[in-house]
This record gives sequence, structure tokens and C-alpha cells, in this order.
Amino acid sequence: MVGSGVPDEIFANPRLAAIYDLVDADRGDLDHYVAIAEEFGAADVLDVGCGTGTLACMLTGSGYVVVGVDPAQASLDVARLKPYADRVRWIRGDATALDPLSGDLAVMTGNVAQVFTEDAAWVSSLTSIRNALRQNGYFVFETRDPSMRAWENWTRERSFRVVPLDTGGEIETWIDLLDVSLPFVSFRHSYRFSEDGAFLTSDSTLRFRSQAEIAESLKKTGYVIDSIRDAPDRPGKEWVYVAQKAR
Ligand SMILES: C[S@@+](CC[C@H](N)C(=O)[O-])C[C@H]1O[C@@H](n2cnc3c(N)ncnc32)[C@H](O)[C@@H]1O
Repeated sequence: MVGSGVPDEIFANPRLAAIYDLVDADRGDLDHYVAIAEEFGAADVLDVGCGTGTLACMLTGSGYVVVGVDPAQASLDVARLKPYADRVRWIRGDATALDPLSGDLAVMTGNVAQVFTEDAAWVSSLTSIRNALRQNGYFVFETRDPSMRAWENWTRERSFRVVPLDTGGEIETWIDLLDVSLPFVSFRHSYRFSEDGAFLTSDSTLRFRSQAEIAESLKKTGYVIDSIRDAPDRPGKEWVYVAQKAR
């Protein structure tokens, strides 16, 4: 697999994957991607880094044919339990696992693009996605605008929350900023479960690429940029790239 190869604990640990949707319950960000699928008249959608599969299931529920690919088995196990999950083709892996010429729209939601800290992995993923798209197919992904310095909110003080669990009890969760060495930002998610006192952590490093870096990598891998949009639910904070497979 390209990328770091090993998904972060937050996606790969079964206990953390099971609470991912509860902790990140507001998925208003995904409505924008459903609208984009409609805007481009897509039929076959490739959800790269699909995680717990919320978007993939929303799309199959609306009649799209969807492939969801993610390296984290625990997240896919959560995804498979959702309504309409039986209509999704789930693949454990990364973009290299996609069939050639199988989609007319590929998406990366939830800032998946930032998990590719190494350029080689980013370029390899872009290439695999391009190969998986049909002629004139679109690739839509989001990434945070580095100038908005999102990491300044990734502190215990600003992120601490108590989330009730469906199963009873609750979790305390927060983020600690570990290191900012731009373009890399490292941070730790912590979770304390009231049920049994379990304390789990998940460390992540994200890369904040500039528009120039993204434009260069897209050109190099055979895309043209159609537009760079705002994320309606996070105005001014994200760049939503709409790239088209070049001839
Ligand atoms: C922040 S989550 C977003 C999940 C989902 N797209 C969403 O919006 O909820 C990032 C996802 O990227 C996945 N991921 C990590 N490395 C990857 C890779 N090399 N290729 C594809 N996905 C990867 C993780 O397993 C995780 O599910």
C-alpha cells in the first residue's frame, strides 16, 4: 500500500473505530459531496479512504454504484453495519486496489489527502486514482488551508468533550498538539472510557500542502484543475479541489 501503510489507531483500533461516528457525529460536510456527485452526473463513485463508510452508504442509498476503499479493517467493519452498506463494494487497501477505468467520480472526504505525508505516497495515490477513473472523470478532495492554522485548536483546552455512548457510560476525549514542523503537524487523540476506565490514544501526523504543491502534483499525475471551491460547512477553512482526468 502507498501512504504510511499503517492506519492510525483512531481508524484501526476496533474500540476507537466503533466510536468514530459518535465522536464526529455532524457529517454535514458530506452533503457537499453528494451534491457534487449529482452535479457531475456520476454513476460510479470511488470513495478513497472511506473510513466508516458514511458517505459511501449515503450514495448507495441514493442509487449510486460505490466502491469504498480504506486500509483500516476496523473502520470497514463499522461501515458494513450501516444501512445500504450491502450495496457498497468494500475493499481493504488503498487507491492501488481500485480497478482501472471503474469510476467517473473519485472522492476523498475528511481531509484524507493530508494523511499522505510523503510526496511519493501522495503522487502514487493520485496516479492510482487517475488510472481508476474513466476518461474525463473527476477527482474531488479537500485539504485544509494552512494559513488558517487549524492546529491552533488542537489543544486539550479547546478540544475537550464528553460524549455519551449508546451502550451506556461516556467517553472523555481531547486532542493534544505534539509538534508543528510545517508542513507537518503531529497531534494525539485521547479517549477515556467511563465504563471500564480504559484510556486509549491515537497519534497522527498530517501534511499541510500549499496550493502550488497541490497544483504541481495534480499536473504531474495527469489532471487538470477544474476549480478550487470552498467547503460550504467550513467556509474559508478548506480547499475543495475539483480535478479532471486529463486527456
Ligand atoms: C479522517 S479519516 C476520513 C474517513 C472518511 N473519508 C470520512 O470522511 O469519514 C481518514 C481515512 O484515511 C484512511 N487512510 C489512511 N491511509 C490511507 C491510504 N494510504 N489510502 C487511503 N486511505 C487511507 C484512514 O484509514 C481513514 O479511514
